[in-house]
Amino acid sequence: MTPEELLAALRPFPRLHLNYTPTPLQPMPRLSASLGGPPLWLKRDDELGPGGGGNKGRPLEFLLGEAVAQGSRKIVTFGRLQSNHVRMTAAACARLGLQTHLFFFEKRPSTLQGNLLLDQLFGAKLHFIPFGGGGDASMTLETTNRLVRLVSWLLVGPGAYFMPVGGHTAVGCLGYVAAAVEIQAQIAALELDPARVTIVLPVGTGVTLAGLWAGFHLLGSPVRVLGIDVGKLWHTFPASIARLATGVCSLLGQPRHFTAGEVPIIEKTYVGEGYSRLRAEAVAAIKLMAQVEGVVLDPVYSGKAFAGLLDLLGNGRFAPDAQIVFLHTGGLPGLWPYADRMV
Ligand SMILES: Cc1ncc(COP(=O)(O)O)c(C=O)c1O
Repeated sequence: MTPEELLAALRPFPRLHLNYTPTPLQPMPRLSASLGGPPLWLKRDDELGPGGGGNKGRPLEFLLGEAVAQGSRKIVTFGRLQSNHVRMTAAACARLGLQTHLFFFEKRPSTLQGNLLLDQLFGAKLHFIPFGGGGDASMTLETTNRLVRLVSWLLVGPGAYFMPVGGHTAVGCLGYVAAAVEIQAQIAALELDPARVTIVLPVGTGVTLAGLWAGFHLLGSPVRVLGIDVGKLWHTFPASIARLATGVCSLLGQPRHFTAGEVPIIEKTYVGEGYSRLRAEAVAAIKLMAQVEGVVLDPVYSGKAFAGLLDLLGNGRFAPDAQIVFLHTGGLPGLWPYADRMV
């Protein structure tokens, strides 16, 4: 599809414009020189969206568009205590005058900090249920969503719009299908060779990866994407991402079946002990980015994925003429709960 055809295919889907785009695609000359490797670029989706920014601003345009089009005034979603998706949902709903119910399957901490503090400031109703809610690789992402949907229905009642963890639906992915068009235009404007470009990004629920992957596929673009798993969260995770990308193509009238084996993800290698468990390599990567480029990454997502990218660069994973774009997905509020471990 041409970019115009893809944008036309997206148009029938209800969308709320919550973001100022395009986000910058900026060079990192000092970092590239200090690593002595291929040129590195930073796509600033940390500067995107309401409530402090981050990648979830893009899926939320379509998810909340769908919710409002269905007449829902109540939005339900869930995540871990420091979920950025949850925080950005709360902020967007505040702006739209929607009621938000946020579910956490953990104990209420004695002090609300980081994203939780912001969730409360945005006026969301917080539900803490310390029974476990998936995210320990014992269940698939889909099963977890089904269970939480049921629990939330019992507590919030009917008529609410249920948003799966991280916005994991084909409609949610449309935000990153649109981003593929945006990035393709930026690559062209910078006169980069798309066949040499790889976009590296953190993966939590796979919405961002599936959207970009399907988007570049639909554009017939040679741009590659490479997701770095940050969580070991879900049973048979690549199968869920493949299902999602397949769903996106079918939603846009361009059927294509993706298989788990095709998903461009490095699973488990750079996770460390688990989701939100700090890795020394991530702390070093955060410091490097902060001190050489003046950009702040977070310990749970972008810092872990950037540490993975540094390892891949060190191991010669990319061709010498490669152009690497690191997608900065945000997550800044999640830095504060780690304050005592960042020095
Ligand atoms: C800062 C940040 N980066 C990356 C991700 C992963 O995105 P996805 O869930 O689309 O894989 C998230 C998920 O919430 C996030 O908050």
